[in-house]
Amino acid sequence: MKLQHTMTAVTVLAATLALIATGPRAEPAQDDQLVINGEEEVPTQAPAPAHLDGALGDTIYSGWLFRDPDTRAMQKDDFDNPMFLFVDAGIETWNTPDGTEGKSCADCHNAIEDSMKGVRAALPKVTEKGELWSLENFVNDCRTNRMGAEAWGWNSQEMKNMTAAIGLQSRGMPVAVAIDGEAAPFWEKGKEMYYTRYGQLEMSCANCHEDNYGNYIRSDHLSQGQINGFPLYRLKDQGAVSTHQRFVGCVRDTRGVPFEAGSQEFRELELYVASRGLGLPVETPAVRH
Ligand code: HEC
Ligand code: HEC
Repeated sequence: MKLQHTMTAVTVLAATLALIATGPRAEPAQDDQLVINGEEEVPTQAPAPAHLDGALGDTIYSGWLFRDPDTRAMQKDDFDNPMFLFVDAGIETWNTPDGTEGKSCADCHNAIEDSMKGVRAALPKVTEKGELWSLENFVNDCRTNRMGAEAWGWNSQEMKNMTAAIGLQSRGMPVAVAIDGEAAPFWEKGKEMYYTRYGQLEMSCANCHEDNYGNYIRSDHLSQGQINGFPLYRLKDQGAVSTHQRFVGCVRDTRGVPFEAGSQEFRELELYVASRGLGLPVETPAVRH
């Protein structure tokens, strides 16, 4: 039984690698431009950050460039982008009092357009207490410690509505996470994880998103696995997907056991993956199929 199990895994691994290696290779759709609502141009490529040491060549690419024309088109117009329903819900929540203190986010932070501009582009970051926090941690800290309200689940709809609404305020601004100083030890751990082979397939993030971006795996055009568009709308799920939710999905695809959304491990991985997109403009909220 055990042997059979192992052989199946080996066969699956061989089949997966063969699928990637023999599939057609296609360039990212560099002839297309992400111009939102016909006016706001968001560049979808940038010079590769120095720390990558050429691992992705000279250029980093947004995942948008690897999707089909219909999916790309949905992200070009905020009316066609299904995530804007969730953004609107998030903005409504921003203005609604909640918790024992009877306060709304707006009571302290005023207009989301001003106070949250650039916030998402610099996260995750190290707090005064020396912890690495993602946007979700900051939101729940305000809810529990400043509003007397309940924490939202990491992947709850309320949380994704809010992170989409906050993330939108950084759209077009380059990803600018700090990876030096206090962030360095977290970043190192995230990097180690990125290159660790997981699951029965023994595949690392890098095996797919570094060694094979541009290749097809089954019907999927492999991107560089950037996170500048999260949270995003996934047509397949007909719903919003958080960064950590995507990580869970990718680890599962290697037949591995994922860490939990919000875990220390995934926050470190998030910092490292964000840093592979340093300089790439934020696209939140993106659309993927
Ligand atoms: C009682 C006042 C208060 C309320 C209500 C409040 N916050 Fe905050 N919030 C703060 C303070 C103070 C900080 C830390 C100082 C700062 O960075 O502005 C902060 C920080 C943040 C940050 C991190 C900002 C950064 O630059 O890293 C985010 C994101 C945030 N709040 C979101 C929210 C959201 C979303 C809500 C509503 C669900 C909310 N806050 C409600 C006072 C509040
Ligand atoms: C077996 C191949 C494979 C492995 C291993 C893998 N992924 Fe993925 N990943 C995919 C596929 C396929 C997609 C969907 C197409 C795309 O965007 O590349 C995807 C999408 C993503 C996306 C969404 C990109 C976007 O712009 O929408 C992120 C982020 C991502 N992966 C991160 C990771 C991380 C982090 C790891 C390691 C924990 C990992 N992936 C491991 C196959 C893989």
